Amino acid sequence: MLVLGIETSCDETGLALYQSAPAPEAVQDAPAQYRYGQLLAHALHSQIDMHQAYGGVVPELASRDHIRRVLPLLTQVLAEAQRDKSEIDVIACTQGPGLAGALLVGTGIAHGLAFALDKPVITIHHLEGHLLSPLLSDDPPEFPFVALLVSGGHTQLMRVDGVGQYAMLGETLDDAAGEAFDKTAKLLGLSYPGGPELARLAEFGTAASIQLPRPMLHSGDLDFSFSGLKTAALTAVKKIGSANVCEQDKANIALAFQDAIVDVLAAKSITALKQTGLKRLVVAGGVGANRALRARLKEATAKRGARVHFPELQWCTDNGAMIAFAGAMRLMAGIDQAVKTESFSVKPRWDLASVCTK
Ligand code: KG4
Ligand code: ZN
Repeated sequence: MLVLGIETSCDETGLALYQSAPAPEAVQDAPAQYRYGQLLAHALHSQIDMHQAYGGVVPELASRDHIRRVLPLLTQVLAEAQRDKSEIDVIACTQGPGLAGALLVGTGIAHGLAFALDKPVITIHHLEGHLLSPLLSDDPPEFPFVALLVSGGHTQLMRVDGVGQYAMLGETLDDAAGEAFDKTAKLLGLSYPGGPELARLAEFGTAASIQLPRPMLHSGDLDFSFSGLKTAALTAVKKIGSANVCEQDKANIALAFQDAIVDVLAAKSITALKQTGLKRLVVAGGVGANRALRARLKEATAKRGARVHFPELQWCTDNGAMIAFAGAMRLMAGIDQAVKTESFSVKPRWDLASVCTK
């Protein structure tokens, strides 16, 4: 089955072609990376440069740019995979959550293409794409595992027992980790998206020169709260005096902020492993690219005799491969049927629980 994936939920246009394995039994002896099939091609256009001037994503500009990009990227993935569009069996598209206008572009084009090619569509929950993306790696984790999903819009700990089997263990009560990175970076005068910039600046910080709180570290549950941390960073700036803050102060604040986030994410992830009795932690979402977080989670899981899996950096942030793959996995698991339909809708707000099978 050849699945075309289309992702347009925010500021990245991602397309991919995934060829699912003929039948799970037939490929049991295949190398691990081909257990579920093979990614034939993927292409991505990031709008970061366009939104940078505004300090954040401008929804209307995002939608218009998706319109310009989807079809050229489709031509690109078809050429790379040496396939014709008539060979596509199913079109998978992100239906939500995300920006309504941006979602409408990808979902609209997916349905238009499907109608023209007389092919069915499967709609995908963006977070399920992130959750399953680690399985695209050369060394995919086995189910079950604890997933730490840390993106620009979400911070969640989940128990993942299989495709469609996701149980929420804890989540952020306010800002997501990525959002807190971005807001604090803005405060320090860094450009959008600030997460990677702040991480770079933190490398020049002096350890323990500034202390920031670890919100909800001892809350006894697996929930998070990061909005206070951003305020604490602001207070640190004010204490020095906005006019006096030098580059070294900024680096010190960046390091203190990153340390605090990493401490909380790592501690709660380990507690989730303890509570579930599982030995595998899988990290997904953009903040999963953070080097300090990766190093800390490796160390902390090793101490417990557990393992941590990270998706390749290219699958951490938004992409079409994770959407094509999630579509293939849901169809292979028999959870959904792809449908031929002339009507469609988007779900800017969409609870992951509604795509769970239990
Ligand atoms: O998963 P993603 O691409 O988009 C959403 O679905 O939200 O995540 C984007 C988020 C942004 O907030 C960005 O600043 C953050 O991931 N991010 C990082 C790093 N790389 C991306 N945060 C900290 N350190 C990084 N290296
Ligand atoms: Zn995302």
